[in-house]
Amino acid sequence: MSTAPVDATTTSAWAELTGHAAAQRPDLRSWFDADPGRAERFTFDAADLHVDLSKNLVTDETVALLLRLAEEIGLKSRLEAMFTGEHINVTEDRAVLHTALRRPAGASPALVVDGQDVDADVHAELARVYAFAEQVRSGAWTGVTGKRVATVVNIGIGGSDLGPVMAYEALAPYVQDGLEVRFISNIDPSDVAETTAGLDPETTLFIVASKTFGTLETLTNARLAREWLWTNLESAGAIDGSDGSRTVAVAKHFVAVSTALDKVAAFGIDPANAFGFWDWVGGRYSVDSAIGTSLAIAIGPEAFAEFLGGFHAIDQHLRSTPFAQNVPVLMGLLNVWYVNFLDAHTHAVLPYAQYLHRFPAYLQQLTMESNGKGVRWDGSPVTTATGEVFWGEPGTNGQHAFYQLIHQGTRVIPSDFIAVANPARPLRDGDTDVHGLFLANFFAQTKALAFGKTADEVRAEGTAEAIVPARVFTGNRPTTSILAPALTPSVLGQLIALYEHITFVQGVVWGIDSFDQWGVELGKQLATQIAPAVTGDVDALAAQDASTQALIRHYLAQRD
Ligand code: F6P
Repeated sequence: MSTAPVDATTTSAWAELTGHAAAQRPDLRSWFDADPGRAERFTFDAADLHVDLSKNLVTDETVALLLRLAEEIGLKSRLEAMFTGEHINVTEDRAVLHTALRRPAGASPALVVDGQDVDADVHAELARVYAFAEQVRSGAWTGVTGKRVATVVNIGIGGSDLGPVMAYEALAPYVQDGLEVRFISNIDPSDVAETTAGLDPETTLFIVASKTFGTLETLTNARLAREWLWTNLESAGAIDGSDGSRTVAVAKHFVAVSTALDKVAAFGIDPANAFGFWDWVGGRYSVDSAIGTSLAIAIGPEAFAEFLGGFHAIDQHLRSTPFAQNVPVLMGLLNVWYVNFLDAHTHAVLPYAQYLHRFPAYLQQLTMESNGKGVRWDGSPVTTATGEVFWGEPGTNGQHAFYQLIHQGTRVIPSDFIAVANPARPLRDGDTDVHGLFLANFFAQTKALAFGKTADEVRAEGTAEAIVPARVFTGNRPTTSILAPALTPSVLGQLIALYEHITFVQGVVWGIDSFDQWGVELGKQLATQIAPAVTGDVDALAAQDASTQALIRHYLAQRD
């Protein structure tokens, strides 16, 4: 039974933070000038992540008040409730145990939740995934004509896609030569068509990844892919098209990942070729479960285990580090500070690592599907803003696109800058280390955002008076810098876990269930209801509202 959320806005810390925010005149220039210890005092290490929070709009007093808020709303006990498997996903009556997916084998004491030996089950399934990955990587697993797999195609959407594709892209240098993974997610038929284009059916393996195995997009795409496989194997003479040959083709070219193994079997995939996980793993928290099978094949079990180790290192940091030095706790509380006290509506995540180019997209589901809620876990309405919009693109590309607004716009946009010290592909341009040049930008941007440029400094450059205002940078634009040694599997796991826990901290402060996603249901239901109208059912069309009817009629009139 879950305890009722504390309304954060009724705490004494909240009242003091409100007054503190109103009185605060952020001035990073003078704060740094007056306080030589600021940079060091606000910098923390979590596993391999070196995190500088000093360019945020906070003083020691702000942080002390935020920490008091964490205490008053019971963050510590909520966190323990998550780690120990209480049903903190209240609206679905489920435990929230993604942290169990990365506990080392033999961890003591064993984690037993709702009568399930979670550690044993996790490691048994992981062993199956690893064994399968090895078979594919070694060529022991073959298609119907005895050829080894060259291309794995993951079919999934949301958490069954965004994590695997982001991690695959991030860890590209670790992918085995001769293996490629592609991803199909969108029900737009162009996605299947483009992704299968040019593939050899004899060397292609599909992974249908769906927690529920009931998602319209994934099941539709899986059927399209199965048809593609049959048609192309037949025209290559690899199968004769009989039912028996088609069954064998599916057995050799389709595997599944799901919590609903009965539905997997109904699709025609042998349960022996299906990898499971559990209802206590949320879709957006599942890349470290069997949902990561495509990644495990691509980078291999050893690297995948390192990936899990990275997550676990941050889990340990979260659970055992005092909140005053606890990076996910501090970053989550800072986000609350910006959203609730400084009226920030968005949060930028700006990786200075091209391999992390899908990280912001991945974070959008993690953060916004988790915390985009208007009621608390007991059903009462929230009493304050929640769920800021997360967005971003890799630097330096973003610098030439939207940074203008971060530097000189009228909105507060807290921004996380992420970089690694050692690139996977170091190159020189003559005498210049190009990665050094790249990181010079990383350092320059947070400096510019924090300290800006005054009118006098602009004038001193000989700028005509009329355009001085346009060239002033106010500074005091908050940033967090995260530096890691290299983008290894472990570091990637650390980064993901960091943001998982930041999201959790914010959700607890707001009193919301960060682990359900009812807000995606209505659109799904209506799409099912509208589908007949789009394919000519006049009664279904007549049942729609005037705007929707008119749009569908316009669409139908445009169809060739
Ligand atoms: O529609 C939202 C959602 O339920 C996500 O939470 C989930 O990650 C995604 O759909 C895919 O769901 P499934 O893995 O069950 O196909």
